[in-house]
Amino acid sequence: MVKLAPSILSADFTALLADVLEAQEAGAEYLHIDVMDGHFVPNISIGPLVVKALRPKVKMCLDAHLMIENPDLYIGDFIKAGADLVTVHAETGTHLHRTLSLIKGQGALAGIALNPATPPSAIEYILPLVDLVLLMTVNPGFGGQTFIPEVLPKIRAVKKMLEERGLAAEIQVDGGINRETAAAVVKAGATVLVAGSAVFGGRDIARSIKEIRRAAEG
Ligand code: DX5
Ligand code: ZN
Repeated sequence: MVKLAPSILSADFTALLADVLEAQEAGAEYLHIDVMDGHFVPNISIGPLVVKALRPKVKMCLDAHLMIENPDLYIGDFIKAGADLVTVHAETGTHLHRTLSLIKGQGALAGIALNPATPPSAIEYILPLVDLVLLMTVNPGFGGQTFIPEVLPKIRAVKKMLEERGLAAEIQVDGGINRETAAAVVKAGATVLVAGSAVFGGRDIARSIKEIRRAAEG
């Protein structure tokens, strides 16, 4: 079954909890939290304080997507704040094995993200450490961008790499996922769909979630 991960980047920050609980009630499995530092990506968003505030109110898997340089410095803060899954970008790490071990050593699930231009070979030798591979389907930094279809063959390639090694990591996609693009990414092998503007951009959050799921499951 496909899992949905609404991204709070497009939520109403003056009514964040109401938006988040509506997504939870509608059956979303993950809550995707986009962390941006103004260096790795040209935008600044939110940090561990928001994870900490949401933690006691939310049952969904709290999924922190770190679009930040030097992620090792902040991993502990996110896990202490209550993140269940911490995803770092392959492009930020000179010692990715160490970074992923840091996450797992503190009891969280470890994710590795690839920008659209980064080949899957960048993560070949660390795949056994990874619980989730995040394939960016836009260039990270902003919500509401257009899906990049050139990533579809990469989803297939990562699925094959995992299968060949007998690994069961999730394949998450992030960026431009909506009713129109969901079926294609799932067909290619995605198991967790992040959606920001397609969930929180409209008036009816629950309905949007159900429609994306219906489209994803064909
Ligand atoms: C982009 C973020 C995404 C973003 C997706 O840098 O990583 O999670 O919120 O937004 P949509 O679904 O609107 O493309
Ligand atoms: Zn994200």
